[in-house]
Amino acid sequence: MQACVAVKYSMADYWNIAPGMENALKECFSRDAEADVTLEFSIPEKDFNNAGKGSSEVKNLLKRLGVDSEVLRRIAVASYEAEINVAAHSHGGEMTSLIYDDMIHIKFIDEGPGIADIAQAMVPGYSTADDLVREFGFGAGLGLPNIQKNSDALHISSAAGESTLLEFLVFFAQ
Ligand SMILES: Nc1ncnc2c1ncn2[C@@H]1O[C@H](COP(=O)(O)OP(=O)(O)OP(=O)(O)O)[C@@H](O)[C@H]1O
Ligand SMILES: [Mg+2]
Repeated sequence: MQACVAVKYSMADYWNIAPGMENALKECFSRDAEADVTLEFSIPEKDFNNAGKGSSEVKNLLKRLGVDSEVLRRIAVASYEAEINVAAHSHGGEMTSLIYDDMIHIKFIDEGPGIADIAQAMVPGYSTADDLVREFGFGAGLGLPNIQKNSDALHISSAAGESTLLEFLVFFAQ
């Protein structure tokens, strides 16, 4: 009889947080209940006609709230790239934006298939985009590096065969 080998993957966590800020910023990722406004959008798989709408609604709301235009640009770039990634690379997911008086926390949770090697996915130019995704003009492998560049703190938790959580913070006062 052949032995059945169970392969167990453990979730990998990737953090991009300025040195010395670990405790303060990790706390900001778990303030959820205190948010002033919470916005939720679903992101269906490969729906490129609608992917990006959640990010633009968040941008419009923050603009009305008077958020600085450079800060707004950074939030819009990071959230758009993350939203497109869920549509392009996952089976669909949810975007939740938590708005506080001093910052925004945006989380993306999808239905897999997960990222086997997050460090590799972060390398500029690395992409597994399929032909359809490339036809829509995506697949340069620059989305994740751009999210990192434009956010004040980034956290990704994923593994092969699991859902991916990507969440970031941007503070309104720079
Ligand atoms: N939510 C996700 N689920 C599964 N894999 C993902 C997810 N987000 C990113 N990836 C993986 O990470 C790779 C790099 O992502 P990144 O956003 O940097 O580039 P891209 O989406 O391929 O191209 P671009 O963003 O420049 O259009 C993707 O090609 C994919 O393999
Ligand atoms: Mg991308």
